[in-house]
Amino acid sequence: MQPVLRLRGIAKSFPGVKALSGVELDLYPGQVTALIGENGAGKSTIVKVLTGIYQPDEGTIELNGAAVRFPSADAAAKAGVTAIHQETVLFDDLTVAENIWLGHAPRTAWGLIDRKATRDGAARLLDSIGAKIDPLARLGDLGIASRHMVAIARALSIEAQVVVLDEPTAALSHKEIHELYELVEKLRAQGKAILFISHKFDEVFRIADRYTVFRDGQFVGAGLMAEATEGQLVQMMVGRSVDQIFPARTHQPGDPVLTVAGYSHPTEFADIGFTLRRGEILGFYGLVGAGRSEVMQALFGITKPSKGAVKIENQVRVIRSTAEAVEAGIVYVPEDRGRQGAVKGLPIFQNVTLPSLGAVSKAGFLKLAEEFALARSYTQRLDLRAAALDQDVGLLSGGNQQKVVIAKWLATKPRVIILDEPTKGIDIGSKAAVHAFMAELAAQGLAVIMVSSEIPEVLGMSDRVIVMREGRIVDEVAGDRMTPENLVRAAAGLAVAA
Ligand SMILES: Nc1ncnc2c1ncn2[C@@H]1O[C@H](COP(=O)(O)OP(=O)(O)OP(=O)(O)O)[C@@H](O)[C@H]1O
Ligand SMILES: [Mg+2]
Repeated sequence: MQPVLRLRGIAKSFPGVKALSGVELDLYPGQVTALIGENGAGKSTIVKVLTGIYQPDEGTIELNGAAVRFPSADAAAKAGVTAIHQETVLFDDLTVAENIWLGHAPRTAWGLIDRKATRDGAARLLDSIGAKIDPLARLGDLGIASRHMVAIARALSIEAQVVVLDEPTAALSHKEIHELYELVEKLRAQGKAILFISHKFDEVFRIADRYTVFRDGQFVGAGLMAEATEGQLVQMMVGRSVDQIFPARTHQPGDPVLTVAGYSHPTEFADIGFTLRRGEILGFYGLVGAGRSEVMQALFGITKPSKGAVKIENQVRVIRSTAEAVEAGIVYVPEDRGRQGAVKGLPIFQNVTLPSLGAVSKAGFLKLAEEFALARSYTQRLDLRAAALDQDVGLLSGGNQQKVVIAKWLATKPRVIILDEPTKGIDIGSKAAVHAFMAELAAQGLAVIMVSSEIPEVLGMSDRVIVMREGRIVDEVAGDRMTPENLVRAAAGLAVAA
């Protein structure tokens, strides 16, 4: 079978970084090719090369056997190559239909934008992917999953031969992920060549026909999924085998740091109560939508609870803003780190030290050397891959930006840190580094709340696990009762074995 798209010898450098060199990639009609590699391996960069956003320094692109160049994203789209990027740019103030058709809207005989065709076309595209979204809704009013569906509908509005999905499921819930898989199936059945980027191996094995692996901007290998094992792929990706062993946790949790009682919100959660101890890692498991993030956002002063009490080290505290939360020693690293995370345009080290400026300034003067030292120690521990710490954070790969956000909050030396899906979007090798650092900080007395939907992570890292369902705590498991079955049953609302 001939590939639709064939890339050979692609090189792309940025100042100080060789993002790609000698890279090859083949995409076949009616097949899903998974592109895997560590954070910063060059996955999003190759996507930008093949969609005309970046021009390669070297190399060739062939489409259906003919050499092509894509001088712009529009040129790539016209040739039928379309992508849903890791950070898709959509416009909050436009409607769903306008976002879908921006730049290529159907026009009337008079050359004006055909409102009816635009609306009906948008409705048809959304319907074809099973998304129940009003084409006239303002995009800014939609949740993250719906925004994603709009991005997909936009990609489909262009008659695509090649569809690229760069970590499409990272921000989606269980149900939405399944809808996305079905969508990929449909695209495959239509004969489209699909490039699928993901850090989740279960998903890659489920969905892909082929794989291509990059490491440090270079092509390492490609083949058929059916002939690969997870171990082989990890070995190719990281250059060594990675044992998925979680750090041993030997110390005992100490005194209570955070006590929450009768904590309720008008719509999101009710009667939440728990105690978190010094040095403890408390897992929060549940299906997406169970209300875990909403509880954490209230604790961090982003939203207001309607009743309930929060005590920090036995003192009742009312947290009305994030500033008050930080002051009380509670910090929260949100799941949606793209939107609420790194400050683009600022260098990495300043991003890390931003909320800790007190610690690195003397009489109001920032001490650059100390700022660097603080940033270095935290980012190293999280396995950050960056050319230099004075590099703009916006130029880092997606996963590396996330590490900066985690480092930033850890560097404030909080009493309590709440990590929402801490390793989402982080590659398998760096995951181990993040886990080891979490365990080490806990051993030093940090109290950690970890919201995670990944069962091995929850079980591997937590001292205890609280399970939430529909805004309430439905179970708490510890010791022998910490099993995948118990978590899943409780989260799904089934009776739990005693
Ligand atoms: N515009 C840019 N300027 C400078 N460096 C860049 C730019 N874009 C990407 N890079 C660098 O190129 C390398 C590859 O980044 P890329 O975003 O392709 O990684 P990735 O494989 O998508 O990683 P992730 O899994 O974290 O999303 C990184 O070192 C990144 O910092
Ligand atoms: Mg990327």
